[in-house]
Formats: sequence, structure tokens, C-alpha cells
Amino acid sequence: MHQPWLSHLPWLFLLSSITSAQSLLPPQIQNLSTSFTTPPMHTRPLFRWWWPHGLVNTTTLLSEIDTITSAGFGGAEINDVHHSTPGALLDPEDHGWGSKPWVDAVIAVLEQATSTNVDGERFRIDLAIGPAWPAAVPGLSPDGVGSAKEVVQGTVVVGVGGVFEGVVPKPFSRKGDGVEVESLLALQAWRVDSSSLPLLGATVKLDGESMIDITNLVDGKGKLRWKAPAIANGTWNIISYWTRGTGQQPEAGPHTIPTSYVIDHFSKAGTHAVSKYWDEHILNDRLKALLRSNSGSLFEDSLELEASTFWTPDLATEFRKRKGYDILTILPLLLRERRRPIFTFTNTDRSSGATNDYWSVISALTIEHHILPLQSWAKTTLNMTLRAQPYGLQTESMAAASVLDIPEGESLSFKGNIDNYRSLSSAGHFTNRNIISSESGAFANGAYSTTFAKMLRALNPAFAVGVNQHVFHGFSYTGTVPGTTAWPGFAAFSPLNGGRSPGYGENWGPGMPMWRHISDLAVYFARMQYFTRLGTPKYDVAFFTQKGYIGSGIGATWLSKDGVRRGWNYGFVSPSMLGLKGAVVKEGRLAPEGPGYGALIVDGDPFADGAKVLSQEMVGRIGELAGEGLRVVVVGGWSNVSAYGYGERSGGGSAEVASGMTGLLGLGSVRNAASKDDIEMVLKELGLRPTVEYLKPSALMYHHRVDKNMDYFTLVASSEKEGVDHDVIFPAKRPRTALFEFDPWSGGVRQVTSYNVQDDGRLRYRVRLKPLQTRLLILAPEKGSSVFIISTTAHGSGRVEHGLHIQSNKDGEFTTTLNNGTAISTIIEEIPKPIELANWQMNLTSYEPGPSPMETIFKTYTRNLTSPLIPWSLLPNLAAISGIGIYTSRFSLQPQSLPSGQTPGAILHIPSIGESGSFRLFVNGKQIPADQLEEDFDIGVSLGEGENEINIEVASTLLNRLRVSNERAFGKTRAQVYGLRGIVRVVPYVRARVG
Ligand SMILES: *[C@@H]1O[C@H](CO)[C@@H](O)[C@H](O)[C@H]1NC(C)=O
Ligand SMILES: *[C@@H]1O[C@H](CO)[C@@H](O)[C@H](O)[C@H]1NC(C)=O
Repeated sequence: MHQPWLSHLPWLFLLSSITSAQSLLPPQIQNLSTSFTTPPMHTRPLFRWWWPHGLVNTTTLLSEIDTITSAGFGGAEINDVHHSTPGALLDPEDHGWGSKPWVDAVIAVLEQATSTNVDGERFRIDLAIGPAWPAAVPGLSPDGVGSAKEVVQGTVVVGVGGVFEGVVPKPFSRKGDGVEVESLLALQAWRVDSSSLPLLGATVKLDGESMIDITNLVDGKGKLRWKAPAIANGTWNIISYWTRGTGQQPEAGPHTIPTSYVIDHFSKAGTHAVSKYWDEHILNDRLKALLRSNSGSLFEDSLELEASTFWTPDLATEFRKRKGYDILTILPLLLRERRRPIFTFTNTDRSSGATNDYWSVISALTIEHHILPLQSWAKTTLNMTLRAQPYGLQTESMAAASVLDIPEGESLSFKGNIDNYRSLSSAGHFTNRNIISSESGAFANGAYSTTFAKMLRALNPAFAVGVNQHVFHGFSYTGTVPGTTAWPGFAAFSPLNGGRSPGYGENWGPGMPMWRHISDLAVYFARMQYFTRLGTPKYDVAFFTQKGYIGSGIGATWLSKDGVRRGWNYGFVSPSMLGLKGAVVKEGRLAPEGPGYGALIVDGDPFADGAKVLSQEMVGRIGELAGEGLRVVVVGGWSNVSAYGYGERSGGGSAEVASGMTGLLGLGSVRNAASKDDIEMVLKELGLRPTVEYLKPSALMYHHRVDKNMDYFTLVASSEKEGVDHDVIFPAKRPRTALFEFDPWSGGVRQVTSYNVQDDGRLRYRVRLKPLQTRLLILAPEKGSSVFIISTTAHGSGRVEHGLHIQSNKDGEFTTTLNNGTAISTIIEEIPKPIELANWQMNLTSYEPGPSPMETIFKTYTRNLTSPLIPWSLLPNLAAISGIGIYTSRFSLQPQSLPSGQTPGAILHIPSIGESGSFRLFVNGKQIPADQLEEDFDIGVSLGEGENEINIEVASTLLNRLRVSNERAFGKTRAQVYGLRGIVRVVPYVRARVG
């Protein structure tokens, strides 16, 4: 392993000379660096802003905007969420969502937000489409038009030749609250196959050809008489299908009186119910004008819709129009009870095809009847964009993500597989969406224990797959809220479960000690977001997904596990993408104006056990693209292939897909990879290599964007366990390309001095990152021709205006080779020994419950500590203290007589510092910008001869205090470790000019 403190090149030295060093930067880089250092409002992170509906005090809200703005955030999304508080306590009748007080509060907030002027930009306000989620409308009848609908079934068994006489079987499942009407959709009899196991809970096998429609045998009194055919053995099932409202209400209500019911997401009537409610009950001229001028986003949360079997009144008609057959003939296959299928056909191939057809129609309806009309209404009426989380059902969410203005994912349910984000962002990138959003930092049972480091570890990987807008989850209204009896006041998601569990994190706000440092975190995110919005994203390859799910937890064959570690950068492509305008091939690249995929990889459907499934349309479309020169890699054997849908399969489609595949495989740009392990070999045979070559497989991931002659790279060490330390080779477009590094913590920009240019012109550079750290690089034409270091035996190097230098914390003779061929020998001697900071004073400000839930009282504690340090949470009497510890230590530096061209400096090493919450460093009163995942900090620029003072501020979470003050909710959580620990050292170095 390399010495950790040298993993980082010396920023501060460079910053101190940044004004003079900037003149070395080409003008394009200088321009970017100005905005990067102070990112514009529209690139800053946002907050979910949780309101207890209209039960808010405007003065408090306006001060919250100031608080959020000065913390470095660019806006907030108003979202009426109060899971910690029973809705009935919040006066839903007069102060509910959409009530007059609510509208007035939104207006007041918009007035201030729109007139907020930070460098000419407003504070952005986004609005959730309704109370909590899913989308709902007050007073919508669950029985009537526009509310969510389902199909439910009743069944009765009839023996061979037997007779059923009686009322039509009623649905098994109970009606939702508020649902009155159930209408008979159809009544059918199906023969049960003799191979069907008569076990409770087992899927019943029906003979798929046996359906008898007996709907018209029902008499005026709802009674039926039916005699089962005597021609076949086995039994018969009479299945009744009923449509009714789901009666679903938005989570954790009531939010309104009359009650809000979830809309039908598959009908225009459902969407119209939403826009009509806004038009008629919420939008007055003032509000409309303010929303128009603020031009934020309307937000819709994930599709957490509940139904036995999703239905919409026009489904049968739409289904026949799109699939060419009657949905009633496959209806048993679609029935679900607690999400499990009830019936299958003896021909199982048909069963999966029917489900595919059903969901592809539901997908199309969601887009055509919900997303597009809503988007158009938001645009024309409110001048707002539509931001939504288009997943949660088995729909082709990628198709939805590609039409939304701003597709959004979430760190909570996406954790564990970065492909969840990747499927979202690559769908957006296909249609050149420049903003890919994330609901970020919700942690189950994580309330009041989220540290900055935890946020970074959870969210940095998302930057490597193109996420570039984080909506922090979240900021709760800070005023008084009825029902909130415990300190530190209202938090939308904490505590939960009747006050017995911590609930979801985080409750960001001035009540937490870490808020003292929040602007460091905010500006980091803003700079990352600024950087990751430059240019157009580019990928090496696309992985074709039959289903186009987002957030399924399933990745891409070979690429997710192996390819990515070998430098292959990929996205997902779903069927709808290939039908889009941008789906053309130019110079072998798919969607050349967008992601520019160099190849398409086609494998079986992972959601059908890897079965080789493709629609007739797709086999044709992929063939067309291959004909235009797109490289296609078909994985595995495709001799046994099925068409995608039941409609296709029953019409001989599978044979056509099989012959289409044979034709496809005969094309010059198409290859078969016998197994997934051959994919890379085949790609190389087709002449494709990763854009960035890794010299060693690793957890390094990158997002690549391109803009004229600039290449932007966002590098992330994507594993919690594994850092990165190896060379990578970047593409070169011309001989005079240089590498620039943008530091999101300091805002500094510098030209990289140590790299090599290979004979083929590509640039070879060492990447060193700790687990989950990021690095931002730009490859750009350089100004003039600079001299750089090809190799040095010293550990570090850098550049200031007067030239290159090397850096070492050890005595010795070092050899440095420059690109002009010069080899330089440097002798560094007399480096002082590392200094252990032995004596410390700690002033601890404790945050404690005051006389009311909203009040915090502060107490101070002082301790004199000696090295090795013990965290304050392990010191006597301080275990329950959450707060801010300010640590102070002093040390002395003797004058050094260094040869000309050599300067002294030092690295400050602080073990595990990011684990308490957040921290800030000061040396002789000057703040040192610090990566919250780092332990080694260059403090050279702030040091002087004689006495030096170090101050380290450690801000904790509130958890340890809450474990005591609210034992019922937090008592079962594990205490966090707060404060400095171990030995803090100052490790001197010398920097010597070379060349
Ligand atoms: C709103 O809050 C302000 C500031 O705390 C207070 O002065 C005012 O009385 C409050 N207004 C209402 C209606 O409670
Ligand atoms: C049951 O009926 C089916 C179709 O009519 C037939 O193929 C099968 O052999 C029969 N099985 C028995 C056990 O009679």
C-alpha cells in the first residue's frame, strides 16, 4: 500500500497560489473553475421540505428558506408528509393539503423564493402533486371516474358434468375503505388440468383452450345456472371477475377532508382528476403566476400502487387495440392474491407471454395517459417541469424515465445495486435529459444517526452513473406541530410505529449539531452536480433489457460484475428506446447525439429465468441497427427462442423470432458469445475497447461526458471495502492534451503534473482513491506546451507557477524524469520527525432537551485530554452527549535551513475522523477544506515557524442524546462513537523544485 497521506496531492499549497497558478490554466478551464468554486443556485442540492399541511406559520417557513439557502442548497420540494403524526391531529378539514391556509403558505414561500437572489438566481420551489404519495385527489370517489381500479375474483369448483346453481361467486378479497360498488366484468368457466395439485395455495393449472364465457347466463337477480361439460375429466372452475375501486389512500393520512383517494394512473380520467383539482381548487391567479415565474418541478413519488390486479375501465379496449386479442382470454393469468399468481395455463410459455403483454399495455397507458398529459398540463399551465420516480410496478419504467423532464431514483430502495440508478440514468440519457435526480439519504431506522461520511458513502457511487441532482431527505418544518411531544420537535419520519422506533433518516436542520458544517457538504454536492452536468454522457456499450425495469436489483450480464471492474462503461437500453428518434447509428455508435453506445449486448430475459425471449419488433429493430453498423453481441444459444408476448407466441411469432435471430447472427457486425465469459473477447474481435483502460481490475467506476474538445471524468471508488490504486489510460484526441483536476471539497482546480503519454498518444495516470472517494478530471487541450513529470521516486508532486516540484516526508535522494527527457536528481535532507499532538483541550457544547419539544438547551463541558485520545462518548459522564466538540492542540516548529527551491510543509493525520458526524479543521485560525472520507490533510500552507495551533471541530449526530431522552424510540439503537480517537500526528514534508 502507498502511504496514505500521499494519496492526495497538495491542494492548499496550490490554492494559496491559485491566483497566480490560474494563469497557467487554459481559458476554458478557467471559466469552468469559476462556477465550480461557487456553484450556481440551479446546480445546488435540494431538500424535501416536509410540511404538516397548512398548519404552518409563514414566518417560520420564510426563515426556513433563509436557513436552507445559507446552508448552500438551491431549493426545496414542498411535500406534505407527516408519518410520525396521526393525520387527524393536523386538522385535515381546515388546514389539510390544498386548503386555503396551505395555499396561502405556498404563496408566501414562493414570493420569497422567487425574489431570493443569489447571483441572479431564485430559490427553486418544487411541489409534490398531492398529499404524501401516491398521487391522490381530495373527494375523488373510489367508485367513480378517475380513481384507481382493480380486478378481483371469486371462484367456485364444479365437477365433471356437475351443475352450479346460485349467486355469482363474490370476490374473495375485502373491499377497500370507502369502496361501495363492485361490477361484474366477466364470468368464465375453465377446465382444471388433472396435473394440477389440489394443495391449498398452489397455483391452479388451467387448460388454456378450455374457456367458456358464461357472462350472459347471469340473470337479472345476479344468479347463474351452469352445467359443466361431461366430455372431459377433471373439474371446472367458474371464475367471476369484478372491477371496483382500490380505495387506496395516500400514505399516513388523513391529509384532507373529504378523504383523498389515489387516482387511476392508467387513464386520462385519473390524470384529469389531478389537474382539474389543481385548476379548480388550488390555483388562483397569484399562485399560478408565482409558480410560472419560479419554474420548478411538479413531483410525483414512486408508483407504490396497491391492487389485487391493476385495472382501468378502458383496459380491454386498449389491450385489443395494442395486442390484437381479447384480454379476457388471459385474465386468469393476470389475477394476483398478495402479489402471487393464482392460475397458470398448462402451456406455461403462454402464461409468461400473457403477463408480458399485460404489463406492456399498462406501461404504455402510464406514459400516454398519465405522464405525458400531466407533463403537458404542468408545462402549459404552470411553466413547471415534471420530475417523477417512474418505478414500483412491473412496467417498462425506462420508457417512462426517457420521457419525463427529470427522472428520479432513490438511495433507499436502490441501495445494494448501482444498476438500479444506472437503468434510470441511461434511460434519461438516451433522450438527452440533462438532469437525473435522486431522493437521497433516507435510511431505514436511521433517523438522527446519519453522518456526512454515511451520506457520501451512500451517494458518491450514484455520481459515477450519471445522477446529478440530489434531493436530500429531508428538512422538516421547524415550528410547532400538534402531537409532537418529544424533543427535538417535528420530524416527518421520526419516530415511527407509535413512537417506538427511530424511523427514517434524516431530519436535517439547525437543531442538529452537524448543521454547523452543513455548507461544506452542500457545496461538495453542488460542485459534483455542476461538474456532472457538463457535456453529454458517453458510454462504451449498452445492455438490452427486455423488460426495462428500474430498481429491480438485477443487472447486466457480465458487465455488472466483471466488465465494470475491467473498465467497461455501460448503460441499459429497453425496447422503447430503440423506437425513439435518437435510435440511429452513426460511425458504429448508437444514439450518437446522446450516449453513443459502441455495441449492444443481447441476452435472455433475467425475469424469465434467462429464457431467450425477444419480440418480433425488437429482433427486426436490432437487425436494422446492426445493418447500419452497430456492433451486436448475442449471448448464449438462441435456438430455443420465444416471442415476447402471448399474442405473438400464439400467432407463430416464436418461429419468426428464431429465424430473425438467425438472420441477425449472419450480419457482419453481429457476433455470438457462446457464454458470458466470452463477451469481452467478442467485443474486442468487433474492434471495441473500453474508453478508459484499467491496468488492473478494480472497484473504480466512472461517468464520462464529452463537450467539443473536452472530456469530463467523474471517478469513484465504488466499493465500501476496496480503494483504488492503479494506472488508467485515458483516450487522447490530440498530442497536446492535458489533465486537470477539480477538487469538490476546496473548489480548487489544478493541472495534473504527474502522468505519462504513451506512444499511441493516450495519457496514463495513476488513480488513488480510498473506498467511496471521488475524483473529478478534465482532459482538455492545454495552453502552450507544458513540462510534466513522467516518474519520480518521491511520493508526491505538484505544480506552481514557478515550476514543478516533488514532495517527500523522508530524507533521501530522489530521481525525477520529465517528459522532455531530463532526469533530475534531488537531495532532500533534514525532515523533522513526525510530531504526536500529545495534549489537547476539548470544549464540548452539548445539545439537550429544553422545557418544550422545540427548545434545545446548551451546556458546556471542558476536558484536558492526552494522546492517544479516547472519544468523548467513551469518557466518564459524556456518553450521552451529542454536540460539538472543539479540540485544540499546539505544537512548535523549529526554523529549518533548507536549500533554495525547497519549502517545508506537513500533513495532519487524524484517525477515523469522519465517523462522528462531521468535522472541520483549522490551522492557526485558517480553515482547511477537508474531504469527510479522508484522514490526511495537507496543512503546509497555514503553518509557520514557532508555535502553531490546531483546532478540530467535531459535530455529532443527535443519536446518543436521544437514546437517553427518548428511550422508547431510540433506546434500542447502538450508541455512536463521537470525537477524536487515537493519535493525531503532524507529519512534516519537504517540497523541492524540479526543472
Ligand atoms: C409565527 O411565528 C412568529 C415567530 O415565531 C410569531 O411571532 C408569530 O406570532 C407566529 N404566528 C402565528 C399566527 O402563530
Ligand atoms: C383427461 O382428459 C384429457 C383431455 O380430455 C386427456 O388427455 C387425459 O388423458 C385424461 N386423463 C385421464 C386420467 O383420463
